[in-house]
Amino acid sequence: MKMFYWIIVAAFLAVGCSDGGNTQSAVASVVLKDNTTITLQNYFTQSKDTTSFSHPVKGLDNDAEDKFALGKSFFRIPWVGAHAATTARDGLGPLFNANTCIHCHPHNGAGVAVDSEGKMNRSLLLRLSHRNTQDKKALKTKGFEPDSTYGAQLSIHANHGVRAEAKIDVTYEALSGHYAEGTAYTLQKPTYHVSALGYGAFDADTIVAPRIGLALVGLGLLEQIPEQAILSGEDEADKNQDGISGKANFVFDSETNSTKLGRFTWKASASSIKQQVAAAAHNDMGLSNPFFPTDNCTQKQKACLEQADTATLDLPQERLDAITFYLQNLAIPAPRKNSHFEEGKALFETLQCAACHTPSFTTHQGVSIAPYSDLLLHDMGEGLADGRSEFFATGSEWRTPPLWGIGLYEKVSGEANFLHDGRARNIEEAILWHGGEAQQSKKAFMSLDKQSREILLDFLHSI
Ligand code: HEC
Ligand code: HEC
Repeated sequence: MKMFYWIIVAAFLAVGCSDGGNTQSAVASVVLKDNTTITLQNYFTQSKDTTSFSHPVKGLDNDAEDKFALGKSFFRIPWVGAHAATTARDGLGPLFNANTCIHCHPHNGAGVAVDSEGKMNRSLLLRLSHRNTQDKKALKTKGFEPDSTYGAQLSIHANHGVRAEAKIDVTYEALSGHYAEGTAYTLQKPTYHVSALGYGAFDADTIVAPRIGLALVGLGLLEQIPEQAILSGEDEADKNQDGISGKANFVFDSETNSTKLGRFTWKASASSIKQQVAAAAHNDMGLSNPFFPTDNCTQKQKACLEQADTATLDLPQERLDAITFYLQNLAIPAPRKNSHFEEGKALFETLQCAACHTPSFTTHQGVSIAPYSDLLLHDMGEGLADGRSEFFATGSEWRTPPLWGIGLYEKVSGEANFLHDGRARNIEEAILWHGGEAQQSKKAFMSLDKQSREILLDFLHSI
């Protein structure tokens, strides 16, 4: 084993700071220093405030620090429309949802569903796709068929001279229930409203699917989990008869023009961080880039096409790489264990939460991590279903979201919203929405007494 690590060190020293190698370099430098074991220490930050998701891993060398800083700046800057006086950050739009990544990932945290005026926040966006499609090419490369007029996502903003696609809003209906011991709770069920469509009606079979910005925690480490370790968790036929199946998503990767295991986004439809950064730049901000070289206009949107800048990429390779590098090398917050941590952990196992929220994995470099996700898809029942397929994910399947850092979401974003559309106002509500394969697990949670529930919730807040 040790030999292997030294090869990584040697490779790093030989090639310097190549992309991807830097995640390894941070690990390798620990080997160099203490020459014994590889630990997670240099990935941890002790920070517990709004900056918890924004620190670099320890051990980056000067070149890597520069690349991290460059990526950070492109992640945070407000982009402006094409042909503006500033050239480094122009190219926004013509159609877009927000002008900077941090609108939807505040302080790298999770998006917020509703703003202080009670209006739907822009970090909650609406995706569009046909309910049924036979278009094999679209299914292979996009994983769904977009609306022929509006494309894959409703853009609520546009540059001067182009019409925005729509106005969108959300309202909530209260649903009440109670725990086995009698305590009442209320959940909120969302309904989405689309108005002021700028380009006529949707296609007849277009459906609307909400998605909220994910917290960007530990992405570099998730990318380093060996594929085999994820696939070994699959149990599509439920052979062990625990009611939980787990299925991998296989998705199109534009970098290699091939099908790969999906790890990122709510339906695991992105194979790599870089793939998702490129998709976000294109869909959310209208920034053309090496994987999506055109602006985000459909053939029916003439003014958008006329404004589109086809001569240069808004986000060229070097900047796409830098943003990717930045997200790959963010530290994760260290667990904040309390006196009943072990008790909470035991409950998490007994209630079968761990059957999907896999507590630990070992990365390619031998680093033991605790993401609390199997990165697989599960049918979560009708209550959470959105009817939208993405590659092999059906309309009711979702990727188990990692839970590390989840107790800090509120601190980091200022407000905490959970689940794929942010409908849950706290962790407890998120659990109460679980259904489908997680129905038994939720029922077991609902049968706990109040004190045990609190111990479990404290545990979740501390990981
Ligand atoms: C308008 C809101 C919005 C903007 C702007 C935005 N994102 Fe996102 N981001 C989202 C949403 C929503 C998701 C979840 C997407 C899904 O599940 O399909 C997401 C997911 C991601 C993920 C996947 C995280 C994971 O754990 O799987 C990454 C990485 C990411 N965004 C990076 C970026 C970067 C980089 C930018 C800027 C170039 C950006 N985002 C801009 C809303 C946004
Ligand atoms: C069958 C697999 C499965 C089981 C069992 C399961 N979960 Fe989940 N969990 C998921 C999936 C999938 C989602 C995302 C659903 C969505 O967004 O619509 C989720 C979401 C969550 C979230 C919200 C995360 C976020 O970022 O918004 C929390 C918290 C959570 N689960 C905790 C638990 C706890 C605690 C248990 C045990 C009582 C449990 N889960 C059992 C699969 C599971």
